Amino acid sequence: MNYSHAFHAGNFADIVKHAALLAVLGRMQAAGTGLRVIDTHGGRGLYDLSASESRRSAEAERGVARLMAAGSLPAPVLALRDAVREVDPGPGVRLYPGSPRLVADRLRAQDRLTVFELNPREAGALAAALKGRPGVQVREADGFEGAPALSEGEGGRLVLIDPPFERGDDYARSAEALRRIQARRADATVMIWLPLKDLETFDAFLRELEPAGAFLVAEARLRPLRDPLRMNGCALVIASPPQGSEADLRAICSWTVEALGEGGEARVWTAAC
Ligand SMILES: C[S@@+](CC[C@H](N)C(=O)[O-])C[C@H]1O[C@@H](n2cnc3c(N)ncnc32)[C@H](O)[C@@H]1O
Repeated sequence: MNYSHAFHAGNFADIVKHAALLAVLGRMQAAGTGLRVIDTHGGRGLYDLSASESRRSAEAERGVARLMAAGSLPAPVLALRDAVREVDPGPGVRLYPGSPRLVADRLRAQDRLTVFELNPREAGALAAALKGRPGVQVREADGFEGAPALSEGEGGRLVLIDPPFERGDDYARSAEALRRIQARRADATVMIWLPLKDLETFDAFLRELEPAGAFLVAEARLRPLRDPLRMNGCALVIASPPQGSEADLRAICSWTVEALGEGGEARVWTAAC
């Protein structure tokens, strides 16, 4: 397990994923019922962008730093900027919240959050970052394995599956986890984040999902997908998205491509299987 999200925190892909997470979470909370959020791959929860990993990659400079300096923003992107400002009042941005922190900050008394993180160092940092939060549990365990059982029960279910994709089987395991979650709760909202390198890999993943129903697919292609060795963009595949998500995702992906891309395109569509 060599992956460290510290190199990538606050990059364009985090902006897409985290703005989408806030938008989906907000819409599900507006429905009123209690919600259980499951984050299968939590990371460390809070990232110091002045640390050497972040400075070396400069990904946050090309991502969240530009977001914080941008002019007018569409509402779902503005919501992420506001969330970052709550964590780091500025000026500039040094602290960037990961997915578990963003959710934990918005948890209501009737909501619960369970976060899985397999790397002991990251899990320790995450537990420290979320210490004392009511309704929040951190598990140093495999999120693919743990998420399905937690999907059962009363109330809404929101699952974020955000693997590193350093291992080839992360695609197959994400698809399998989705099937197992849906077997327990057919109406669970499940968001899977994916890198976009080449179309063959992405299409193969979508074909693997086919027995599992209809999905909202949101792609932010920063540039044409010509070089399969680069991360040319990212995508979210969302099962059972709350109403209104399509417009949110369109706004998020379009802003990201226009503000941070190099001649790419945003595509938001429904894959009906
Ligand atoms: C992309 S990062 C997560 C970022 C986080 N979701 C966010 O948006 O802030 C992926 C994390 O998953 C962890 N990980 C890898 N395999 C795992 C598994 N099977 N179960 C739980 N965590 C895993 C890695 O250690 C890494 O910290």
